[in-house]
Amino acid sequence: MPDVRTLRAGTRLGKGVITGGGKGRRVDVATRILLVSGSTRDGSTNTAALRTARAAAPDGVVADLYEGLARLPAFVPDDDEPGHPAVAELRRLVRAADAVLFCTPEYAGSLPGSLKNLLDWTVGGGELYGKPVAWVNVAAEGRGSGADAALATVLGYVGAVVVTPGPVRVGVGRDAVGPDGLVGDERVRTAMRKVLELLAEQVPART
Ligand SMILES: Cc1cc2nc3c(=O)[nH]c(=O)nc-3n(C[C@H](O)[C@H](O)[C@H](O)COP(=O)(O)O)c2cc1C
Repeated sequence: MPDVRTLRAGTRLGKGVITGGGKGRRVDVATRILLVSGSTRDGSTNTAALRTARAAAPDGVVADLYEGLARLPAFVPDDDEPGHPAVAELRRLVRAADAVLFCTPEYAGSLPGSLKNLLDWTVGGGELYGKPVAWVNVAAEGRGSGADAALATVLGYVGAVVVTPGPVRVGVGRDAVGPDGLVGDERVRTAMRKVLELLAEQVPART
């Protein structure tokens, strides 16, 4: 998928309208959604769900999968002006995104430490403040509520705008992840596309 889709001026894109030219002039615009998995596991069901979202993104949405979670150093408040390239990259990607979609497993009744660490890195810079966010829970029914609660708390603290009342739930078992790293189940594709649409609708129109 190209980084930025090229659309004709006048095209309606969710709430956004492509402006900046006469009829037929081509301009580059898209709603960019950053996909953040809380799992660092090879074969992760959460990462697979996000890859599937990327592949199923609706027109006008470019979804980018964040792949730096395991490279982030432990958050140290003294280093909050980060020289570390992984931190700089994280902040740049979150800042550049119009919205963020999370998908995380539950570890020990809460968020994986690596995802909480990522979120801690955004507190000082305020990158998530006012940003539309949502999350998907792919755990089996009745599982993962500790991660849901923790994510809701942290996203509230960082001032993100949670666009769904809670997680979007769509179970993804390990055997649902194909050799291409995607989830072939149409139910999952549809759910992921819908949540991207929902997020894109909450992105303020560009003027
Ligand atoms: C360290 C660790 C702690 C876990 N703690 C929980 C837990 O508290 N509750 C739960 O439902 N599952 C727990 N699990 C299971 C994971 O949530 C489950 O394996 C999930 O599928 C992992 O997501 P992934 O496939 O994206 O890696 C834990 C797994 C690990 C490795």
